[in-house]
Amino acid sequence: MYRIVFLGPPGAGKGTQAAALARDLGIVHLSTGDLLREAVAHQTQLGMEADGFMRAGQLVPDALVVRILQERLDHPDTHGGFLLDGFPRNRAQAELLERFVPVDPVIAFEIPEEVLLARLTDRRSCPVCHSVYNLASNPPKVAGRCDREGAELEHRPDDRPDAVRTRLRVYQEKTAPLLDFYGARGTLKRLDARGSPAEVAARLRALVGPDARRAA
Ligand code: AP5
Repeated sequence: MYRIVFLGPPGAGKGTQAAALARDLGIVHLSTGDLLREAVAHQTQLGMEADGFMRAGQLVPDALVVRILQERLDHPDTHGGFLLDGFPRNRAQAELLERFVPVDPVIAFEIPEEVLLARLTDRRSCPVCHSVYNLASNPPKVAGRCDREGAELEHRPDDRPDAVRTRLRVYQEKTAPLLDFYGARGTLKRLDARGSPAEVAARLRALVGPDARRAA
């Protein structure tokens, strides 16, 4: 059974690849960023507590993220496998996940910082279905509108330059050490995330294994 984790800096293309790979493998794509943004949009208590951290580009406190993820993992649709995108983000989260469920493989997206900055500046997202677009590399068919939902596309508040700088710093300080954590467990696979989405998808499927290649 696939229990995949995507690790990587903001803008590396995790969400873009996760949606397609999870669909092809018939597993659930769990993005803690999307779950938190939904909570913010619905103005739940948890969403209101998370909002300020997210806008500033800081990690949301572990207790809030774990609660929202655990609720989602309890849903039966995750029992056939899942792809975790955006969790874990620090050692405490990784240790907690390890106690809860084994994960393998952990895919580390590797990409130079200047590419990330360009991708985030041009990113637009659908607030309804979470589809991700890019004004340069993957524009919507109708300007400003989601191809699937027709909803008005958003520029995420944490894609402002100051928040992006904070997110990159937080990634280096808190999340990058997980490369050693999973490297020591033998589950880490490094992915060259440069190039077009199709090129990255082909490399990703080769890393994940035969079922992913057949599904592509
Ligand atoms: P989250 O939503 O997880 O954001 P992130 O990890 O910073 O990642 P991004 O969504 O920015 O980038 P991505 O790698 O998914 O790239 P994408 O595919 O969109 O988290 C947001 C916030 O929530 C955090 O800052 C934190 O506050 C909070 N949070 C979430 N999880 C948490 C946790 N576990 N603990 C605590 N806090 C948590 O691609 C980016 C752009 O590039 C798009 O426009 C896309 O179209 C384009 N693109 C993608 N691939 C390519 C390609 N190959 N070539 C050209 N363009 C491409």
